[in-house]
Amino acid sequence: MKKIITGALTTMLAFSLIVQPSGNAFAKNYNDTLTIAHRGASGYAPENTMAAFEKAVDMKSDVFELDVQLSQDGELVVIHDTSVDRTTNGSGKVKDHTLAELRDLDAGSWFGEAFTGERIPTLGEVLDEYRGKSGILIEIKSPSLYPEIEQKVADELKERNMHKPNNNKIIVQSFDHDSVQTFHNILPSVPVGVLVYNPADLTDQSLEDFSRYAEYVNPSKGLVDKDLVKSIHDYDMDIHPWTARDHESVEALEEAGVDGIITDYPDYVE
Ligand code: G3P
Ligand code: CA
Repeated sequence: MKKIITGALTTMLAFSLIVQPSGNAFAKNYNDTLTIAHRGASGYAPENTMAAFEKAVDMKSDVFELDVQLSQDGELVVIHDTSVDRTTNGSGKVKDHTLAELRDLDAGSWFGEAFTGERIPTLGEVLDEYRGKSGILIEIKSPSLYPEIEQKVADELKERNMHKPNNNKIIVQSFDHDSVQTFHNILPSVPVGVLVYNPADLTDQSLEDFSRYAEYVNPSKGLVDKDLVKSIHDYDMDIHPWTARDHESVEALEEAGVDGIITDYPDYVE
């Protein structure tokens, strides 16, 4: 399953089918590095908006990443911070606003006048617009604030038949590893990743634990070297570090042999 999923994303990039001697039609070509646009192409458009996702696709990213949380009335909304203050013209916590209130906010003008009127998207809206056009890396953000968010994400995917193995261009990840396991138990056909910022979470024992349910270990880029990449591969998982914002970081990650790079600047990844 892991290699089928990774290969499907790689295949989207190459627009070609790589047939391996094993008979696995989607086996990964390890010379490719997936380009993963962080919160969309957030170096060029306001993060987590349709403009940023459109830019990511325009720039030939293989995948775009987004963050999901819940509105006060239980709708899945795409926004990074747990408050709306930084990226909209509103104020207060995401969870204290209804969907209608969140949709009224301007999520673009903070980034630039050209983006005035961009809205906070719902997860459903993004899935409807980009299914089949891009891989989507869904981060469940701060799940301890949002009971049942894993079930709601699973329901959105199932409603659209996006949980079937052949439709897999979706990955779900979180810093909250209990949440990742909860999602995995609800919808095991969708590959999951663990986000890691603490080196203590990259011991052999941790990697072995992750490998019981996860296909991806996605660490902060500062934790990555060739040995870590090898260890993660030895446990049959892939590694997609974050967040590369300069050419030197991208080159160092490519040199280390990572499988994908999460970046604000998709054009920096060869
Ligand atoms: O996908 C990795 C990255 O998004 C994790 O950090 O804070 O940007 O959500 P953050
Ligand atoms: Ca994120």
